[in-house]
Amino acid sequence: KKILSVASEAVPLIKTGGLADVVGALPGALAPLGWEMRVLIPAYRGVIKLLKSKKSVWQTPDLHGGEARLIEGRIAGLYVLALDAPHLYDREGGPYSDAAGDYRDNATRFAALCQVAAEIAREGVAGWRPDLVHAHDWHAGLVPWYLRDETIPTVLTIHNVAFQGRFARSTLEVMQLPEADFHRDRVEYWGDVSTLKAGLMGADAITTVSPRYAQELMRPEFGMGLEGVLQLRADRLHGILNGIDPELWSPENDPHIVSFSATRMQGKERNNKMLQEEFQLDVEGPLAILVSRLTDQKGIDLIAPAIEPFLDAGGGLVVLGSGDRRAEAAMLDLAARYPSQVGVRIGYDEALSHRMFAGGDAVLVPSRFEPCGLTQLYGLRYGCLPVVAAVGGLADTVIGLTPATEAAKTSTGFVFHPVDALALRQALAQVTALYADPKAWAATVRRAMKTDWGWARSAERYAALFQGLLSP
Ligand code: ADP
Ligand code: GLC
Repeated sequence: KKILSVASEAVPLIKTGGLADVVGALPGALAPLGWEMRVLIPAYRGVIKLLKSKKSVWQTPDLHGGEARLIEGRIAGLYVLALDAPHLYDREGGPYSDAAGDYRDNATRFAALCQVAAEIAREGVAGWRPDLVHAHDWHAGLVPWYLRDETIPTVLTIHNVAFQGRFARSTLEVMQLPEADFHRDRVEYWGDVSTLKAGLMGADAITTVSPRYAQELMRPEFGMGLEGVLQLRADRLHGILNGIDPELWSPENDPHIVSFSATRMQGKERNNKMLQEEFQLDVEGPLAILVSRLTDQKGIDLIAPAIEPFLDAGGGLVVLGSGDRRAEAAMLDLAARYPSQVGVRIGYDEALSHRMFAGGDAVLVPSRFEPCGLTQLYGLRYGCLPVVAAVGGLADTVIGLTPATEAAKTSTGFVFHPVDALALRQALAQVTALYADPKAWAATVRRAMKTDWGWARSAERYAALFQGLLSP
């Protein structure tokens, strides 16, 4: 059976966050279960160049003011349909914005993607016609809405409800929607249009990326205005955890690092030394890392007020990320104050992120909300124990150290609540204390590394959901 996946990012073509990891990994995870998934994404600058055995399979002289083609191609086992429309996607900046801010025509850019997706769903392309459409986040939200009266089933996955595809009422026109759709039971949202809401209203099933986040989404603290819509559709909402791609994230077999495994940990020590050398650090205690977008969601502002006792006790910190100027400045300031214990790299660097998980002892994820989160999973896999806020997928994937889990020997990391600096400080004190007991630390690392966060279980859940929609 064939599935068209529609998204704005997919590894290894274009990535700004976990969405890309998931969109890129799902086809490979579903293939062994008999599902053939192809991914439709915009052909941003440089994307087509990366594709192998490509051919043009569809074209139109006018897609919102310029020519457009669909290029079918492959990369690393992934089947891609790239929507090549230079006037919309061939730009100097990122997928959504450049130095001047969000592109002004984002409503048009992603409506165009959705219109082409709907056409593929209806007509097929080059003899390939999907049985089901899987849309991701607000960028693809219009697809379920366009297809709501058709027989082909649609699934919408929410990766982050903070991004809602909210645009002025006047964008109904580029979205090719009638004024009648501007209604609270349709795509209207607090006086604007929301493409995410459109997707939620149109989809046959809704998923999000962890069971806990599925519950949280229906509450005002986390639903960000869409909680009412989600409550309305609660019977169609499923939480399915993300997995990690073993091809890319296995310490036994990772070209970026000195390899190691739960039973051969010498390599991890080497990675730690090399990471310290790279940042000119001299740390005897636990080395914490942070690999993150530096935004409000990620709770970066909690780190500076929480971490001093940890550093004063001999710990270290390596930071890789970019985002808010304030958060970047706060991290650089820590490095200036603790030059031999804190290293900061502002930017995006895939290879360095691997070296950090391999060399680090603990990965900090103090998010205010986290639909799933992938860095805690990479941390578990690489024996870099997660220190996480008790929200969303973080709470679903990490077993925190408590008197009970200590007695039962089940902890795989450190979980704190509420999400504030005091609780983070206490979690970091737990890290310091456990690290001082090498046997207990090593046992926790071994347990963490053995937990299985591959895609197998979640792929089965997606497959069962898809199957149920095809033969209700
Ligand atoms: P989100 O999608 O909200 O950013 P996730 O934890 O799901 O959060 O995914 C983030 C992904 O992006 C992970 O693969 C993480 O390793 C990666 N990442 C984030 N920031 C950087 C960075 N500065 N350099 C390299 N990889 C990064
Ligand atoms: C979003 C979320 C993150 C999740 C990722 C992939 O970016 O913020 O928690 O892991 O999507 O689903």
